[in-house]
Amino acid sequence: MSYKYFVSMDVAIIGTGRAGQSIAISLADAGHRILLGVRDTQRYAGLPFLDGFPGITATSVEDAGERADMIIIATPAAAVPEVAYFLGDVSSKVILDVTNGPVSGPVRYRHTAEALTRITGSRHVVKCFTTTSYGNPLLSDPLSDLRPETYLAGGSLKAKAAATALYRDLGITQVFDMGSEDSIPTVEAMTRDWMTQPVERPAEEPLLLVKQPL
Ligand SMILES: NC(=O)c1ccc[n+]([C@@H]2O[C@H](COP(=O)([O-])OP(=O)(O)OC[C@H]3O[C@@H](n4cnc5c(N)ncnc54)[C@H](OP(=O)(O)O)[C@@H]3O)[C@@H](O)[C@H]2O)c1
Repeated sequence: MSYKYFVSMDVAIIGTGRAGQSIAISLADAGHRILLGVRDTQRYAGLPFLDGFPGITATSVEDAGERADMIIIATPAAAVPEVAYFLGDVSSKVILDVTNGPVSGPVRYRHTAEALTRITGSRHVVKCFTTTSYGNPLLSDPLSDLRPETYLAGGSLKAKAAATALYRDLGITQVFDMGSEDSIPTVEAMTRDWMTQPVERPAEEPLLLVKQPL
């Protein structure tokens, strides 16, 4: 029996666009309880797909952060400082930074993970899931011989272990640790390169999938 039957966590997901929807559905399907942290519970991007989905509940950003064991940030990078502020006290929690792109605003941060660390006070921020994609068939076919692989970076071993456990729930067992937070710009560059490569996006429904190995 898979370990996932023994470990079920409360996972907050902030941002319910393509990335957030895909991750939410995949993790709920793996047995986790998903708290969507949204600005308006009556109107958010993932509502048509996620409303009523077993194991998925929408609430405020602050409430999701407070109740969750770990938090996934899947908003545009520019929104990260605001989201971090509205999360409330999550200083002891693991935060998975899924975003791609630079942080805007008056304060200069090297990257979104640094903004999350400095604003929330959490020492457990990891950059990961940046190549989870929409409509890629790799994970949807359990009989496929293709085994997706991916990478992460950050200064917290605890956060990396948590991210790796979630990846494993999604069938991704080859997760390369690229190093500390100093390696995040490298990971961002790898992801930018990945994003410029062609990927098949046939499905209208959100699927959490990772592109073929780099
Ligand atoms: N799309 C992909 O395949 C993919 C893959 C890996 C990583 N990413 C990264 O994941 C992030 C999201 O991408 P996406 O394509 O899912 O974007 P998207 O479709 O534009 O969705 C953005 C989501 O963020 C929410 N949001 C924006 N500002 C917010 C704020 N201040 N507070 C709370 N929520 C806020 C939006 O809220 P509303 O629902 O209220 O509009 C929406 O749900 C990006 O950084 C992207 O680079 C994307």
